[in-house]
Amino acid sequence: MLTNVEHIGIAVRNMAASNDLFSKLFNVVPYKFETVESEGVTTSFYRVNAGRESQTKIELLEATRSDSPIAKFLEKKGEGIHHLAFEVDDIVAEMERLKNEGFTLLSEAPKRGADNKLVCFLHPKGTNGVLIELCQEIKE
Ligand code: CO
Repeated sequence: MLTNVEHIGIAVRNMAASNDLFSKLFNVVPYKFETVESEGVTTSFYRVNAGRESQTKIELLEATRSDSPIAKFLEKKGEGIHHLAFEVDDIVAEMERLKNEGFTLLSEAPKRGADNKLVCFLHPKGTNGVLIELCQEIKE
């Protein structure tokens, strides 16, 4: 089952400039910076409305190399909303369910994503152009 929107991912060309901008917008600094070398991406995470019931997480994404998925996205679509991430309780079961429903998964198995999550993406061609991320917190 998909539960809450865990975060919204935004593709940016210049992480430093965008961190300045979003820090002013949200009036809060990122709580985490993380590079996922396997995906060619560096990220920063914001908690908007932190500590309250309805906090919102925003992930900024910048490419670390020209052949990464984020670089390709920026080339094709420019800066902007890149993905919606939904929390799931059991990512493997959810991947199986969605596969059976006819959705195309971008990986056969969950991958280790940023912010201590197992993640899997659905192909946007099957979701009205919206890249959907499933994410499950890693508990160890
Ligand atoms: Co994400």
